[in-house]
Amino acid sequence: MAFKLSFGLKNGVGIDIGSDSIKILRLSKSGHKYSVLDFDVIGLPAAAVSGGVINDKASVASYLKSSFSRLGIKEKNVVIAVPCKHVIIKTIEMPKMKENELDSSIYYEAQQYITYDINEVFYDYVVLGESQTEPNNNMIMIVAGKKDIINNQTELIQECGLNPFRVDVDCIAVENMFNFNYPEEFDELVSLVRVGASETNVHVIKKGFNLFRRDIPIGGVNITEEIAKKFQIDFNDAENIKTGGIGNRNINFQSNYAVYLNMIISRVTSEIQRTVDYFAANNDRQYPKRIYLTGGSSKLPGLSGDIEGKLNIPVEVINPFRGILFKDESADNRSHLFGVAVGLALRGLE
Ligand SMILES: Nc1ncnc2c1ncn2[C@@H]1O[C@H](COP(=O)(O)OP(=O)(O)OP(=O)(O)O)[C@@H](O)[C@H]1O
Ligand SMILES: [Mg+2]
Repeated sequence: MAFKLSFGLKNGVGIDIGSDSIKILRLSKSGHKYSVLDFDVIGLPAAAVSGGVINDKASVASYLKSSFSRLGIKEKNVVIAVPCKHVIIKTIEMPKMKENELDSSIYYEAQQYITYDINEVFYDYVVLGESQTEPNNNMIMIVAGKKDIINNQTELIQECGLNPFRVDVDCIAVENMFNFNYPEEFDELVSLVRVGASETNVHVIKKGFNLFRRDIPIGGVNITEEIAKKFQIDFNDAENIKTGGIGNRNINFQSNYAVYLNMIISRVTSEIQRTVDYFAANNDRQYPKRIYLTGGSSKLPGLSGDIEGKLNIPVEVINPFRGILFKDESADNRSHLFGVAVGLALRGLE
């Protein structure tokens, strides 16, 4: 977003700094063949990062550096992402024109849509393609992020001796990852739902265009906090129970927990349902043909079935490595964490 280069790299390295963990992914491209070279998931202490803002730079930098040296990654150019909630994304239609004319026109257009002071943001644009209704126009996506949020990440990356040669937006990275892996869905109206640690993002896309997105302030961290409060246990115990350790508790606890978890899941589902209904109400009653789930909290047991049952729309869990050669089968149970990182590493190869 803030940086442009006209060519991609031989290997793409994506670094997704989340509230719960950092994901590192190195991909290679040879012809049309993409392969995973290295990957890592580094769990972070609570509050070191919140919603893409790095609060504890020293620890995050040291985790990142030690992962790079352990994996033996030599590339310095990396792609990072800022969270979409700190970014304004606007798709507009403009008459087709030359690149230098477009550059200056966008500057004026951007000021209409960017609610911050234009001097306080980095902005960029992408020509998405020809308008479907007016062949003399192009669809253009303008993306603007506040400099302080972007600098917070780029400074950290530079402190690690790396170069943030592209800065993407996490929700755009997820859509790119999806379009790359599921080309057969290109012409269909589908919804991507990413349930992360800090929030849930619901996207509606078609033909590579984002038609709608809503960010719901429910994520794994506040779910764990609620479990901790309800059962009067500490955060780490609640996290352990939520992520599979429930079997160590007595039957009574297990049944109370199951009831409580169902209530939480119903709440997530009903927010997703409200979002999809809102989209349909404003778009000729069109509903997504399928809902694709990703993000760490998409693994909450029962979530996928609850969404499918209540919305009556088929739900599928995204495999972000579907179009990529990946020999390490042990990574399978963590693939839900890599939606953004795959999108970022692919951007490094563009
Ligand atoms: N098996 C599991 N069952 C339930 N929840 C899980 C499971 N595995 C991970 N999670 C939850 O997923 C969340 C982490 O998801 P993810 O890695 O997508 O978030 P992040 O990228 O670190 O943060 P952010 O939301 O800020 O982008 C944590 O809250 C964690 O508890
Ligand atoms: Mg994330």
